[in-house]
Amino acid sequence: MTDRFMPHAWLQCLLVTVLVMPFTSGMAAEAGKNRDRDAMQAEMKAILADPARTADASASGAERGAICAYCHGSDGISKKGWLPNLAGQSAEFILDQNLAYAVGDRVNNVMNDLAASMTDAELINLSVYYAVQAPERIEPELTGKDLTVGENFYKGTCTRCHGEDGRGKKGYTWIAGQKQEYVRRALARYRDREGGRMDEEMAEVTANITDQLIDNLAAYIATLH
Ligand code: HEC
Ligand code: HEC
Repeated sequence: MTDRFMPHAWLQCLLVTVLVMPFTSGMAAEAGKNRDRDAMQAEMKAILADPARTADASASGAERGAICAYCHGSDGISKKGWLPNLAGQSAEFILDQNLAYAVGDRVNNVMNDLAASMTDAELINLSVYYAVQAPERIEPELTGKDLTVGENFYKGTCTRCHGEDGRGKKGYTWIAGQKQEYVRRALARYRDREGGRMDEEMAEVTANITDQLIDNLAAYIATLH
């Protein structure tokens, strides 16, 4: 398996049909939705507290992640600006989002099928693997963006949860090293309350912001590391 991203819709369909369907058919799909989130987070925390178990989990995650590499890259640095980086994000956040996809709380066809097809242990191992990868050092795209406006708004509104450096208070909401285009789209989706992802806090803080401000914010966030 190469880790080249395949952009065409039909190739994605093929990927899903060939690699995912066998796992999601029948009983497996039902089992995939029944998860104990708290127990899984506790189990992952115990693994991360133990270097030997972290290394084992990461090695298993790397192996299972061959399929994820098509889009998110073998090292968790994604292939396109609109695909999220996973490298260096908080393990707790990655597992939480994988679980949201697995049970259908966050909607994206590819991610829903893939996450549901994974066992609890596989989702934990994948989350550990990506969290321990080095985050991307983003080259911000600054044409037409006003970094000062982005910075002022970020510092006034976002730091209380995401931290001055974008590494998140308590790590959960780590956004430093995330792709600029993905961040731009994510902010617009929270604001517009559409796109299969709802978060009340994020919808509130983005409720009245313009597209231009979103561009400036995404550019500023791209400078954080
Ligand atoms: C065919 C492309 C594709 C493949 C393969 C894929 N993903 Fe994704 N992934 C996406 C897209 C697109 C999104 C963003 C969707 C959205 O906005 O909800 C995403 C989002 C995510 C997110 C949320 C990141 C964030 O910052 O919110 C996680 C975690 C994730 N994927 C993990 C995985 C894992 C683990 C695998 C392998 C089991 C995988 N993905 C395979 C396309 C893919
Ligand atoms: C009250 C806490 C809080 C504040 C304030 C806040 N956020 Fe968030 N943010 C969160 C949480 C929690 C999530 C994860 C939500 C989810 O699961 O979709 C999140 C998610 C995000 C994401 C998506 C990350 C990803 O990888 O998918 C981006 C981008 C983001 N926030 C940017 C911002 C910006 C920019 C601001 C300021 C305008 C801001 N946030 C203010 C709590 C907050």
